[in-house]
Amino acid sequence: MFNFKIKTNLLFGADSVKELGERLAKLKLNKPALIIDKAVSSHQQTTALIDSIKKISLKYEIFITDVVEPTYDFLDEFKMNFIGRDFDCIVGIGGGSILDLAKGIATLVRNPGEALLYRGFPDLKNIPLPVVAIPTTAGTGSEVTFNAVFTDSKQKKKLGINSEYNYPILSIIDPLFTLGCPKSVTVSSGADALVHTLESYVHKNHTPFSRILSKEAFKYLFNNLNKVLGEPNNVDIRLKLGMGASLAGAALINAGSGPSGAFSYPLGAVYKVPHGYAGAIFLPEITKINFEKGYRDYAELYNLIEGADLSLSVDKKNAEFVKAINSLMNKLGVYEYIKKFDLKEEEINFLISQHDVLKAAIDQNPIAITKEDTTKIMQNIFKQGV
Ligand SMILES: NC(=O)c1ccc[n+]([C@@H]2O[C@H](COP(=O)([O-])OP(=O)(O)OC[C@H]3O[C@@H](n4cnc5c(N)ncnc54)[C@H](O)[C@@H]3O)[C@@H](O)[C@H]2O)c1
Ligand SMILES: [Fe+2]
Repeated sequence: MFNFKIKTNLLFGADSVKELGERLAKLKLNKPALIIDKAVSSHQQTTALIDSIKKISLKYEIFITDVVEPTYDFLDEFKMNFIGRDFDCIVGIGGGSILDLAKGIATLVRNPGEALLYRGFPDLKNIPLPVVAIPTTAGTGSEVTFNAVFTDSKQKKKLGINSEYNYPILSIIDPLFTLGCPKSVTVSSGADALVHTLESYVHKNHTPFSRILSKEAFKYLFNNLNKVLGEPNNVDIRLKLGMGASLAGAALINAGSGPSGAFSYPLGAVYKVPHGYAGAIFLPEITKINFEKGYRDYAELYNLIEGADLSLSVDKKNAEFVKAINSLMNKLGVYEYIKKFDLKEEEINFLISQHDVLKAAIDQNPIAITKEDTTKIMQNIFKQGV
């Protein structure tokens, strides 16, 4: 028996944001609050989507913020903009940070008290406002998940407000937004999607349906991440990365995540490493350990790499896959980026100590990752230099 859910109506394509006004009207949503990432507030696609709302005279308001990886405290502060206002939906336009913020606000305007009250998997009294997601990165997949990630600044922990009511009802993926992403944002968000793909693929709870999504996502993400830095203005590549990110998010929500996602949390919350880099840095080591301990399901993913040698044996394909992941991370500059954080001995020991805290998530990996393995992983990445 297995369960499979996709709850969001998705619209993909260049200039698809021009449909926003009509789509909202069809859903009988007439009073949207638009939360916009400052980085795209004067983007031509933002202007286009606002024009589409104006054209059919919806009563809208705009809230612009430059928040990155929001805290619960920020959520409480930002919520004050919405008190006593009569919106009927929240539209998030931005990276994962803004999409998650939109979900958090949608929850808090309908449920009393501070944001921290709703951490984890809350049993909400009232159904949140509907959320519409317009991602401008490719990406977290937040446009198809109910998760919203927030940091507890006192405890320095990344948690979330994860309510199944927060699946966006509509998401519009317009690749013209990501054309403007700086390299670091393209890499971080793309690598995040790759983490979602690989972790959902190997996850103990993967299903035949989630695997279809993980594999398709992998094909789009791996092959196009290899190309995007050379052709950042190629709309087709950007669209494929957007599709890959959404597929990966849908796979993640139907299977789950694993050790790389788990270890990304302390790196992000304590050392402020951007989420995508913080997860991707662990992928090569985890993939290698899985292979060394006998995991052999990577051959099917290897077959999806452009230029793969399909005549290789299953063992050899798995070995080549481990190399391919390592080589992509090198090419994307993930190792180089992480080096800048220059973690010291005691910081590395702190990360190792997180093994016990994160054990439940680490144990979702199909192969046991012991504390000794974690020690080796952290030392390989941060100590000996990557
Ligand atoms: N809800 C989920 O399912 C889910 C899944 C994974 C990650 N997340 C969360 O999402 C957040 C990370 O999101 P992200 O990787 O999209 O990055 P982000 O939203 O934090 O944005 C990173 C930077 O890129 C800028 N930016 C965004 N779009 C841009 C564009 N088109 N052009 C130029 N600059 C742009 C932003 O202003 C910001 O400065 C983290 O908080 C992470 O925990 C959520
Ligand atoms: Fe992620």
